[in-house]
Amino acid sequence: MRERGCVIWLTGLPASGKTTLARVLERKLRNMGYKVEVLDGDEVRKWLSPEAGFTREDRERHLRRVIYVSKLLARNGVFVIAAFVSPYRSIRNFARREIGDFIEVYVKCSLETVMKRDPKGLYKKALRGEIKHMTGIDDPYEEPLNPEVIFDSERESPEKGAEKIIEKLKELGYIK
Ligand SMILES: Nc1ncnc2c1ncn2[C@@H]1O[C@H](COP(=O)(O)OP(=O)(O)OP(=O)(O)O)[C@@H](O)[C@H]1O
Ligand SMILES: [Mg+2]
Repeated sequence: MRERGCVIWLTGLPASGKTTLARVLERKLRNMGYKVEVLDGDEVRKWLSPEAGFTREDRERHLRRVIYVSKLLARNGVFVIAAFVSPYRSIRNFARREIGDFIEVYVKCSLETVMKRDPKGLYKKALRGEIKHMTGIDDPYEEPLNPEVIFDSERESPEKGAEKIIEKLKELGYIK
């Protein structure tokens, strides 16, 4: 019998709350007995694309690798939580087509708030001109047009976000 996994793709501005949501969702799904793997931005980059920068070309090449790995895991019954800024609509749509069992979660937060949070100090660096290609500053972020879930991290807790995703997974028949 084929176990059906799924890729839960979290996209949003840097510091919008993807990693925080991923960890809460991971815990909840594990507690429900599902196999879960979190693929998170910086950590995965170190292993899959240590040479990559943040040009569109580099980001897309990196994400194609991530999409391939996610697909292998999902087809073996794993719930993959992929947390990447992934600012381009076209590559997210490619992920959807390529993976099939895929839901897109928009981790939504205003630029004003992410710039206040700025836990890695990247927005400050970008504003000082010390780094280039910073999403939201001198690089675009293309909002999802039809995400399965919108999580508003300015108004909702990560617990609430994880519950919304679990509801959607139930609705789509991925979990009971
Ligand atoms: N729902 C939330 N409500 C309030 N604050 C939050 C929420 N989610 C995350 N935060 C805070 O926002 C900051 C950034 O969160 P997090 O590291 O999860 O973002 P990220 O999207 O993973 O960023 P990056 O793209 O840089 O990896 C952290 O300080 C975190 O505590
Ligand atoms: Mg993160």
